[in-house]
Amino acid sequence: MTDELAWLRERLADRVVAANDIGSDLVAGALRAVPRHLFLPGLPPEAAYRDDAIVTKRDTSGQPVSSSSQPAMMAIMLAQLHLVPGQRVLEIGAGTGYNAALIRHIVGPVGLVVSIDIDTELADRAREHLASAGYPDVAVLAADGAEGCAAYAPFDRVIATVGVSDLAQAWLDQAGETARIVVPLDVGGIQLSVAFGRIGRHWASRSLAPCGFMRIRGSLGGHDRIVSPEPGLAVILYDGRDVNPVALAAALAGSPTEQPAGVEAGPAQVSWSLGLWLATREPRWCTVRAQGGPSGGPPEAPRLPACPPAAFGIVDDDGIAVLSPPGATGSQPLCATGFGPGAARLAADLAAQVRAWDEAGRPGVAGLRVDAYPRSAPDQPCLLGDELVIERPATRFVMYRT
Ligand SMILES: C[S@@+](CC[C@H](N)C(=O)[O-])C[C@H]1O[C@@H](n2cnc3c(N)ncnc32)[C@H](O)[C@@H]1O
Repeated sequence: MTDELAWLRERLADRVVAANDIGSDLVAGALRAVPRHLFLPGLPPEAAYRDDAIVTKRDTSGQPVSSSSQPAMMAIMLAQLHLVPGQRVLEIGAGTGYNAALIRHIVGPVGLVVSIDIDTELADRAREHLASAGYPDVAVLAADGAEGCAAYAPFDRVIATVGVSDLAQAWLDQAGETARIVVPLDVGGIQLSVAFGRIGRHWASRSLAPCGFMRIRGSLGGHDRIVSPEPGLAVILYDGRDVNPVALAAALAGSPTEQPAGVEAGPAQVSWSLGLWLATREPRWCTVRAQGGPSGGPPEAPRLPACPPAAFGIVDDDGIAVLSPPGATGSQPLCATGFGPGAARLAADLAAQVRAWDEAGRPGVAGLRVDAYPRSAPDQPCLLGDELVIERPATRFVMYRT
């Protein structure tokens, strides 16, 4: 390893630790030790040691299906996982294998790391990367991670590096008595990295952090409805909702109606705090994103603001209203733009939600809790009435503020 590579690694670790509340010397030490460039062959080392997520595989429509996640996000989640040497860890989403190597560095040779990827080609590559970086003992499996890995259970820690809207029964069954489970929990397209610990037969959140991962595929895959009213544009609806794509396309062909919200906000507050507010309170909630054509090329110019990763909106049978996202930096005025026969009403409703969020103090993760009740267990939540209950096939989630 050359001095320059060691310097790049040190600099990445320093920046991640300085900019985030990592609070774990073990995680910082792993960032300093594991050579990320070996997990991203073909990429110049300077790029491999930036604190960026790097897409490593796309599907035929150009959508990313695998990436090396942003190192800061990995560090935050590994700190949430409370890793110590000797533990047995299950990772869902091997990807490049880099995160598995960070985990293996911390748990050491007496620990165990099993990492699963649903994509055989990616699993093969991850195995090669791990061997080249000096971690050939990480077990990389090509399978649907929703099944976990009974052969190596029980696990002290389970981590998913893909967005999930449910906890697989296998993860709960294969988690030891004092286990922690960390997953990017997807609530209507907005994700929270939640660290769960057991309380009797249910699980309670120990920490939460905003995050953004690609969604899990396979048997736990989401059932979001993706409507494409015009080339290059995807409108995503959640929890079984649907909308007529022809009516939506007709709505978009009409003149827009703008409704300034009278609120300014920056991208981080919009993309997470306002997003969670809308996703959990607005039954007409949708997200809008640009999508590449079949060639994977750039989308044709869409009429709606569909900035990456997504713009926020509300949609019903009478049209759609979308929030103009602020630019990449700084605070900007938010404006709802409506289309269709219901344009004015939808834009006014969306702007009103933005003001309600602002008046409520723009709630963040502080004081937010998520408890998970496996359907297989007899424990029932004791509800006071102000909780949000999210019903999923394997788990009932209860979200509330303390
Ligand atoms: C964001 S990447 C993971 C990044 C990885 N941990 C790393 O360090 O590079 C998400 C990965 O999850 C995988 N994946 C998606 N659905 C899966 C499933 N059901 N089981 C296992 N892996 C899955 C994808 O193929 C993709 O490689």
